[in-house]
Amino acid sequence: MAKAEVKKDIFWVGAIDWNVRTFHGHTYTTKRGTTYNAYLILDDKIVLVDTVYGPFSHEMIERIAEIIPPQKIDYIIANHVEADHSGALPEILKLCPKAKIIGTAKCKEGLYKNYYGNWDFQIVKTGDELKLGKKTLTFVEAPMIHWPDSMFTYCKEEKLLMPNDAFGQHYATSERFDDEVDQAALMDEATKYYGNILWPLSPLILRKIAEVQKMDIPINMIAPSHGIIWRRTPGKIISAYVSWAKNETKLKIVIIYETMWGATEKMARKIIDGIIDSGVSVKVFDVNQSDRSEVIKEMLDARGYIIGSSTHDNDMLPTIAGFLEFIKGLKPQNRVAAVFGSYGWAGGAVKSIENILQDTGITLAQPGLSVKYVPDENELKSCYEFGRNFADKIK
Ligand code: FEO
Repeated sequence: MAKAEVKKDIFWVGAIDWNVRTFHGHTYTTKRGTTYNAYLILDDKIVLVDTVYGPFSHEMIERIAEIIPPQKIDYIIANHVEADHSGALPEILKLCPKAKIIGTAKCKEGLYKNYYGNWDFQIVKTGDELKLGKKTLTFVEAPMIHWPDSMFTYCKEEKLLMPNDAFGQHYATSERFDDEVDQAALMDEATKYYGNILWPLSPLILRKIAEVQKMDIPINMIAPSHGIIWRRTPGKIISAYVSWAKNETKLKIVIIYETMWGATEKMARKIIDGIIDSGVSVKVFDVNQSDRSEVIKEMLDARGYIIGSSTHDNDMLPTIAGFLEFIKGLKPQNRVAAVFGSYGWAGGAVKSIENILQDTGITLAQPGLSVKYVPDENELKSCYEFGRNFADKIK
């Protein structure tokens, strides 16, 4: 494969994982695979910025060896401890045992507790610089974006930001740059990545973006640790991050429900009709037939959520219960919701869902709608009105 030069004397030396289909312990589906991006900087000093997931060590080392003998590496920047970026450290350090690792104090602690290596480590803080010759690297600590150890590395001469996970996407492609790939697929994966990984960290992300803007570090390229490199449209992804971090929403409703014998689904179908007739966009998911990380992607920019469940043992059904627990951890802000569901002899699901939504900080826009057994014609009409009213309220 031809060398991928990101900037003059800065090369992509990562790995493409075409086949990975789940990530983060199966919490995230990666239908388009992913990449682990590492960057090699050639100057008076030679630097490797991040590594790749351990099973891909060989692929990274081969790419480096096509450019320079790996033993020439002077520094390895460890922007992040997580195994998908540090996993190849033990293998590459066998080839350049004198290389110094650079990262945050938390990174030093985290790498030791993962690999127990007696490695030469230099701790850096925000604003610290490493002069390589013609190029200079500046470090910006980014705690909890998305781990305590996380850090961004910036090259001022090239106006290049290497922020590790931030601005990434799980998107395996033969291309390396934003202008070379399908734009809809790219933003689809970037949205999914933010929604599933960064959403609960939104207040920190807004603060970090403001801090970086104050540091007056012009950026004309963002090279994250997953997916494509933003060389034509770095402003587009920064603007998207600001919007997502502010919890800005669109006039859009996501319905998520779980049904036992189909009555709750019948209710959902009439609610959908009401929303459509109101002119509002709606996405619908039976939680048992859906990929959770795709549902979360759709929830990221939706203003309203409608949640439904049949009642079972005076409570909601178990899959929707697990789903709502997960949503609670994502801490969505500025959202409104409404709840519906059918029951047999005693209700309970609607109230339970309302309680968890309120605990999550989501406002209930209208009273919940419960139907005994299967909805009749009048009850279906109520479902239609329930959907229509909710859609009108969020306009
Ligand atoms: Fe937080 Fe891509 O690892």
